[in-house]
Amino acid sequence: MDSNHSNNIIPVGTYNVHIGYDLLQLLPDYVFKLTPSSYKYVLITDENLFKLYGETIITSFKVKNVNILHYTIPPSESSKSREQKANIEDFMFDNNCNIDTVILALGGGVVGDLAGFVASTYMRGIGYIQIPTSLLAMIDSSIGGKTSINVEKYGKNLLGSFHRPKAVLIDIRFLETLSVRDLCNGMAEAIKMALICDEQLFTFIETSIDKILNKDTKVMIKLIYECVKLKVNIVIQDEKETSGLRSVLNFGHSIGHGIEILLNGKLLHGECVSIGMVLEAELARNKGFLMNSNIVMCRLNNMLKSFHLPTKLPSNLSIHDIVEKMAIDKKNRNGKKQLVILTNIGSVKSSPSYTTSIDDQDLINQLDTNVTLVADNMTSSAGTVYVPGSKSISNRVLILCALGIGVSRIHGLLYSIDTQTMLTCLRQLGVQYYWDKNEILIIHGTGGKLTLTDLSTLYLNNSGTCSRFLTTLCTILPDRTEIILTGDERLKERPIKDLVDTLTQNKNNIEYLNEHGHLPIKISSNGQFRGGEITINGDVSSQYVTSLLLMSPFASKSVVLKLNQAKQIVSKPYIDMTIELMKTQFSIAVDDSEPFSYTIPCTGPYQNPSEIQIEGDASSASYFLAIAAVHPGLTVTVANIGSNSLQGDSQFCRILEMMGCHVTQTETTTTLTGPEQLQAIADEIDMNKMTDTFMTLACVAVFAHGRTRIRNISNQRLKECNRIEAMVTELQKCGISASEVETGLDIEGINNHNIEQSAIIHCYDDHRIAMSFSIVSSRCKNISIDDKCCVDKTYPEFWLQLEKVFGFKVTSPMLILDETVLNTKKNSNIRIFLIGMPCSGKSTIGRFIANKLKYLFIDVDKEIDKEIHGSSIKDYINQNGWQIFRSLELKVFKQIVQKTLLCKEHVVVSCGGGCIETAEVRDELCKQPYVIYINRDLDDIKMDYLKCTSNDRPHLDLNEKLQERKVYYRQCSKYEFCLLKNEQNWRTNEINLLSFIKTIVAKKTQLPISENSFFICLTYKNLLNVDKDRFLSVIHGCDAIELRVDLLESYDIDFIGQQLAYIRKHTHLPIIYTVRSQMNYGTFNNNEVEIFQLLNYGIKFGCEFIDMEANWSKDIKNNWLKTIKNKHSYVIGSLHLKWSVFDFNQLIDKCTHNGQVDIIKIVIDTDNSNSTTDDMLDIFTQLKKSQKQPDEPKRIVFLMGNRGKLTRVLNTFMTPVTHELIPRPAAKGQLTVKQIQDIRHTLGLIESKQFYLFGSPIQRSLSPCIHQTGFDYFYLPYNYERCETNDVTVVQNIMKQSNFGGASVTVPLKQDVYKLFISDTNYSVSDSVKKIGAVNTITKLENGGFYGDNTDWIAIHKLITETLFTKSSVLVIGAGGTARAVLYALEQIEYIQFIYLYNPRTPENAIRLASTYNNQNILPVTKDDINNLKNVCIVINTLPSSINFTLDNLFFEQHSSSAEHRSVLYDVNYIPYETALTKQAKQYNWTIIYGIDMLIEQGLEQFQIWTGKATTVAPIIRQTVLKAYHEVIDHNE
Ligand SMILES: NC(=O)c1ccc[n+]([C@@H]2O[C@H](COP(=O)([O-])OP(=O)(O)OC[C@H]3O[C@@H](n4cnc5c(N)ncnc54)[C@H](O)[C@@H]3O)[C@@H](O)[C@H]2O)c1
Ligand SMILES: [Zn+2]
Repeated sequence: MDSNHSNNIIPVGTYNVHIGYDLLQLLPDYVFKLTPSSYKYVLITDENLFKLYGETIITSFKVKNVNILHYTIPPSESSKSREQKANIEDFMFDNNCNIDTVILALGGGVVGDLAGFVASTYMRGIGYIQIPTSLLAMIDSSIGGKTSINVEKYGKNLLGSFHRPKAVLIDIRFLETLSVRDLCNGMAEAIKMALICDEQLFTFIETSIDKILNKDTKVMIKLIYECVKLKVNIVIQDEKETSGLRSVLNFGHSIGHGIEILLNGKLLHGECVSIGMVLEAELARNKGFLMNSNIVMCRLNNMLKSFHLPTKLPSNLSIHDIVEKMAIDKKNRNGKKQLVILTNIGSVKSSPSYTTSIDDQDLINQLDTNVTLVADNMTSSAGTVYVPGSKSISNRVLILCALGIGVSRIHGLLYSIDTQTMLTCLRQLGVQYYWDKNEILIIHGTGGKLTLTDLSTLYLNNSGTCSRFLTTLCTILPDRTEIILTGDERLKERPIKDLVDTLTQNKNNIEYLNEHGHLPIKISSNGQFRGGEITINGDVSSQYVTSLLLMSPFASKSVVLKLNQAKQIVSKPYIDMTIELMKTQFSIAVDDSEPFSYTIPCTGPYQNPSEIQIEGDASSASYFLAIAAVHPGLTVTVANIGSNSLQGDSQFCRILEMMGCHVTQTETTTTLTGPEQLQAIADEIDMNKMTDTFMTLACVAVFAHGRTRIRNISNQRLKECNRIEAMVTELQKCGISASEVETGLDIEGINNHNIEQSAIIHCYDDHRIAMSFSIVSSRCKNISIDDKCCVDKTYPEFWLQLEKVFGFKVTSPMLILDETVLNTKKNSNIRIFLIGMPCSGKSTIGRFIANKLKYLFIDVDKEIDKEIHGSSIKDYINQNGWQIFRSLELKVFKQIVQKTLLCKEHVVVSCGGGCIETAEVRDELCKQPYVIYINRDLDDIKMDYLKCTSNDRPHLDLNEKLQERKVYYRQCSKYEFCLLKNEQNWRTNEINLLSFIKTIVAKKTQLPISENSFFICLTYKNLLNVDKDRFLSVIHGCDAIELRVDLLESYDIDFIGQQLAYIRKHTHLPIIYTVRSQMNYGTFNNNEVEIFQLLNYGIKFGCEFIDMEANWSKDIKNNWLKTIKNKHSYVIGSLHLKWSVFDFNQLIDKCTHNGQVDIIKIVIDTDNSNSTTDDMLDIFTQLKKSQKQPDEPKRIVFLMGNRGKLTRVLNTFMTPVTHELIPRPAAKGQLTVKQIQDIRHTLGLIESKQFYLFGSPIQRSLSPCIHQTGFDYFYLPYNYERCETNDVTVVQNIMKQSNFGGASVTVPLKQDVYKLFISDTNYSVSDSVKKIGAVNTITKLENGGFYGDNTDWIAIHKLITETLFTKSSVLVIGAGGTARAVLYALEQIEYIQFIYLYNPRTPENAIRLASTYNNQNILPVTKDDINNLKNVCIVINTLPSSINFTLDNLFFEQHSSSAEHRSVLYDVNYIPYETALTKQAKQYNWTIIYGIDMLIEQGLEQFQIWTGKATTVAPIIRQTVLKAYHEVIDHNE
């Protein structure tokens, strides 16, 4: 092709594409040839191009006396808009442009698309000429007649047309001013074109990379010519996208499009397509369509990288988002994505159609860089694998052949980034080679006559081998040749000093360009490698030695290479391999008979063998052998490596054999079967001869029995990463105990157990870490690996092979979770999200709650920390800016949401304070049912903020931020929890939020309030001014508290929140949230909208009851009831009415709302009426009786006013009351609890009862305190007293008394009462009593009969399950009555494994007791057994404290576990407070459950049986009893 003024023409149906150099000066003539010069011309261009070329073009027209208008747009994608189109049209109308106008579109794709679209609609279409100036426009957008603009709100290229230009004029000269980034952007499309339809073009690009980057005219013309021809070809056949052929152009664009949208301009189109191409090609490989995928992927990746194009997904993108955004791509049919499938370089799948449906699952699998192995459905127990060729042999053979004489055909060459780099460099050094069927490499030896073809820099990527081998090789370049060797950042960190030192001593001239001892280096050749005696350190890298050995035959003098034998030779097998290859395959008589010295004759070039077979890579093989090793009974055969191997790593199978595997080898194959039990090798294992496989061994060692000690691999600290440190870190993540030692590492095997922990393994961009951990992952699907692509370095098909050989499923961890969901169908777990400002306690309280409720706890910030590996969030933000941080946060957040959706456990998630600034986070939160805004007062936040966050967060202006964010917090939260201002006791906040959460997640079932209940109506303006003791007196006797919001001095949300926080600080009684309107005798104005808004806050604030007035409009009520349908709150439908004649049914209906309320409250005002007491009682009974069925809403009914007082006494469910200490009653005629209870008692509506404690000795018993406190609290006319006796007939007699209510029974009577109760049908007992054989609670039933129960076991059960959640065994000491209750309680806890029963003095009793249980897990033990028990996390002592029983210290030493899972000691004795045993356990940091707690809990259970009201008073009783207890008990007793 002629470069100057040449004009290559490609016809496209009705018009031509001209390609040439410097065509611009011919533009006017050219244009006039196409259109009569009478026409009007409009030049449309962008500002950049106008500056560069505008004047020239306009002048060139003016010279010819032709006028040309011009219009300039801003150079940006946003110019492709409706507005800009209209602007241009206006401009043209203003200038009288008519049908005889021709537009000249000068610019990149933006100008071309926009100007073309204007031309297509202006006056129903006028002519235009495309003058593309960017590479992308030249080869892509200007060809094919597609025009378009974007619609900002909806997407790219949504408006447009097919409109053919009159011509396309491509002037290569424009490229001179194009930036490199824009050039490479265009190259993405060129590479795509070659990849999908022209192998030759692909090779042409591959061999012209540097020329293209230098915009070499000749090369660019050819490149553009070829690309245009290809596109024209496709476009001609399918101009309007009807046959489907044109869709092949979308290769790389399907995924690329999703990325482009999400990145919103951060990457250019071609850059997104580049990533898309790699991913879509990999997808084709994984679906089995891509031939020779190793080579294709490698060539593609390398080419893209050469043009600085990205190949990996930016890490801040969410995979689900990409898949979602792909969905609106217009190429999708039936909801499934249609993708173009690559089958080889230069071809795509074309039948049955050009696109193939791909499931979202496959896409997620493809896009996720994390990978995990699932072994569940392994299909076979044996498999065969051909591993890729040995990397070391491949690279050596390439060098040998390149330097030899003759043509060689290399079989089995490893094709990897490493070898590709080597090949590219060799080509640069004048070596010629080509592929036979993409399989066999045919290489033409140079005989050592290297020439530097074009560029004088060798770019070595991350290849250490290349850097070492090529450094020496470059010394034989022709005299005075200068060449630079460089690579990526990591390669620059790797040492090269010793080699360079040696070469310098050998009179070669090498210079460090940056850092001493590291790449980049400049080699100035003097045309020879001198030879003679050469010395080098043998303890750094064998590659140095090999490098020198390979070049030795070319030396001027025979080489005697001496290794400084400081300690030992590193990786000697690799040196042996080099020598072996030189000797056997290339006939060089290397003399290695002397230790540490090699003599090589300077015979000149090698003689190339015509065929060479490269053996499989032993390190790659090690992973397959290892996987078989850790799966008992699994067999694998590696078919291309055997006893003949040159590689030291081939001996790896011998180590596995020593660990118990069954191994057989032929000369070329190796077969291994995994044993039942792997045994660690007792001695230290010297891995110096097979360093590359030490990581494989480390991962195998995990499943062995015993400790594996890997030694003599120090040099592995200098590899792709510090491999020893990395292995230890990652193994520890999996819960394996591994530790670094100076020359290696130790791994403690877990003995064929399964790994419980889940972990994400970080790969450090080191393929060996990824492959090694596949071994661990194959045993545990919760171990995933974070960068699956890093295996591409040596083994791109690794994952695919694992699937093929073993039948593992290799999949994205996201899909495993998805599967879990499919399996469980519906996710019913509770997911709580805590949001709020920094320092609101989200993490602290969140963790506390998760711990208490046994929920999983996730801290978003902690997850982000993991994502940014080591750097702090603050540093990350400083480096990357808030925006990038937010998008990372969004990504992490979405992953967490996904995880919470999929996991079975309940979860508490603590979110970062600012996450709600991201709209997508808010959207996600809005979808969640339990998002709680932790609302802490600004002053409180400020105080802590200064203290705690200065170091790890960038500083925020809190005032401003809170203002701004509060709106968002409220918008996306369903609940709001206010911390009491200035609360000093953080525990109060924790406990209150805990009960808040318990309330909101509870399913509405039974009302939390039963008959005979009261609620106090608080009429304070601001509770915060009320003294605590006063408040406690006021609520005395009540079952619930009504907050009258309408009476508060402010309706500000924060203020209301503080009122609730105050109430919750002092009591956990349920709260009734009421906004009483004036219409209903309250003070809130009758504005229903405002009322319902406030009611919403009642729900948000977690109030148990909401009072909804029934007289508001139907719509607002029904809507509100609908929105709160699944919420926790019970609704009271209330009406307050003046006395009149009523239709009761109508009234009831009005309040019931079709059964959508839980309680009906009807109050009628009797003042100013002439009603009689009879009338009133009449109304009262009618309303009361209107409840026919128990499941109908319960009624609160009474009459207001002085004369209504009687009905307040008669209403027994949730009667509103006041208190003398309250400023004023909430309503006319309100009474106090005491008044009502007194009247009821006086009238005989409640009867007095007598309760007893039976047993001996009982003088110091606290039971009276427990029960009397409870009775008194409710103003019940009940009395509880001690009856000291050990005679069951006394009990029997007292039970006959008419006012007998019930009794507690204690030692020594529990068994006797039991016997009494099973002797007669007048008595009934619970199941637990039957099993335990003891009664501790007697209750008189309504029918006059008696009921016996045992509440001891309930208390034991409660205390244990509250303290211990982990699977563990228990040691129970003692074999008496309490022990029986303990055993019964333990049997009810499913996570208790073994129950060991130990009775020190009379072991027979333990045996006897155990035998009465039909339970194999209850095992009597003796003193000798005690210290050998396993996994005992709880010890329960039932022996009397007087025995002063203790255990061996040894026992505690053995069973004291980590801080998180503390062991528990439970002593049932409550006198003294500390027993000898609790004191002993304390020394070992055990958690103690004290006897007093059991006493109180069993008492509360009794109280519940007698009154049904234990929950209300439990906190009060606990407090009172503990106080009494500590006063009575001398702690040092
Ligand atoms: N119609 C189609 O078939 C088709 C195909 C592919 C892409 N496109 C469209 O093409 C557009 C992208 O094209 P683009 O990459 O050329 O973008 P562009 O037009 O924005 O050009 C990129 C940048 O390079 C500058 N530039 C262009 N030529 C230059 C030169 N010779 N010297 C100096 N600077 C120069 C431009 O001013 C601009 O800043 C997108 O809008 C895309 O949708 C259309
Ligand atoms: Zn494109």
